Amino acid sequence: MSFDLSVFSNKNIILAVTGGIAAYKSAILVRRLKDYGFNVRVVMTKGAQAFITPLTFQALSGNPVHTELLDPEAEAGMGHIELARWADLILVAPASCDTIAKFAAGLADDLLSTVYLATKAPVWVAPAMNQQMWAAKPTQRNLNTLVEDGVHVILPESGSQACGDVGLGRMPEPEDLAEQVKDYFHQAQRAIAEKFGLLAGKRVVITAGPTREAIDPVRYISNHSTGKMGFAIAAACYSAGAKVTLLAGPVSLDTPNGVKRINVSSAIKMLDESLHQLEEGCDVFIATAAVADYRVAEVAEHKIKKAGDELNVSLIKNPDIVATIAKQEKRPFMVGFAAETRNVEEYAAGKLVAKKLDMIACNDVSRADIGFASDENAMIVFFAEQYQMEKRDLEKASKQEIAQQLVEAIHDALHNEIEPV
Ligand code: C5P
Repeated sequence: MSFDLSVFSNKNIILAVTGGIAAYKSAILVRRLKDYGFNVRVVMTKGAQAFITPLTFQALSGNPVHTELLDPEAEAGMGHIELARWADLILVAPASCDTIAKFAAGLADDLLSTVYLATKAPVWVAPAMNQQMWAAKPTQRNLNTLVEDGVHVILPESGSQACGDVGLGRMPEPEDLAEQVKDYFHQAQRAIAEKFGLLAGKRVVITAGPTREAIDPVRYISNHSTGKMGFAIAAACYSAGAKVTLLAGPVSLDTPNGVKRINVSSAIKMLDESLHQLEEGCDVFIATAAVADYRVAEVAEHKIKKAGDELNVSLIKNPDIVATIAKQEKRPFMVGFAAETRNVEEYAAGKLVAKKLDMIACNDVSRADIGFASDENAMIVFFAEQYQMEKRDLEKASKQEIAQQLVEAIHDALHNEIEPV
């Protein structure tokens, strides 16, 4: 599953490292969190510094490392209260018995325990210790207290330990921890989008990419559509709180995060799947696919052998997917696309009516800098007459930005006070 790394660039993680041999894994954890785009600041206890140096974490996090509570210089940079407020999440990994005990007792005799008391952010601890120390009654008692206090405890794994023992007490791998952090923020963002996003709770179906029309078992007719615009729209709809199904022709793009992808090949298959999706429930149908206008009348059962100087293949018209869906009784809000090389606005407005669409986005594919295969696009959006909405010019921008503006246009039309007839 692909992931947009910029998503978490506004999220701040304090990684607190305490004394334990697992501290070496925390260095990799910083890297993985940074890979996801998080801002990371590291707090180290005295015990941690016996295992690994602050310099390592400074280099990896790109930020000064916080070690002292009452150091005027460090406090002038970012004091403990400011640090506690800065954090969106505090992850203590590894968490020693000593730190867990301090948290449980509410002590505030070093930087980390003070930040713990001063923060409103969620706190996660990943205990790592000798299996006997893990099983010890005071440790279990303190952990129960932490759970009661709302701390999320990431259970240690079982295995061979640095001390030679075998049992529970190993810190999970840094990749797993970073992924849990990413999933937590992702779910939180999702919950907000599903409640307040522009397309909150809407079910959106999007067709994207080219279709592939078989000539024989090894050959086909297709086009150069890359599917980038449709995939960008799928991602934008998902971010806006929609449930998104992407009917993708053959393209080499990663599935956007959270989007359900169904791969289809021919126009007929794309239409069948579109009708099926309609039955499942669909509020908005967005047709970005470059559907082949014609398919081969009779697909050869076996590979056609070379013979003679000419080969005639007879083609028949494919069904118009978007127009077919628009004719259905329970029709969703219909969005079409038009790629033209001339009279762009006139042709697009004609298609809006002819295909009974609610909205059409058109672009001028004669421009080399936008459209097909490009990462940028510029579009003009028209709405069906009954919406009484002005056309919108979406100026040249990345396909992601254009997708966002299209989501806004869909939202505005859906919430237009004038009832469409
Ligand atoms: O007629 P034209 O191909 O220019 O129309 C483009 C619009 O119609 C796009 O939204 C495209 O996805 C959709 N379309 C379709 N099925 C077809 C042809 C086009 O859904 N067979």
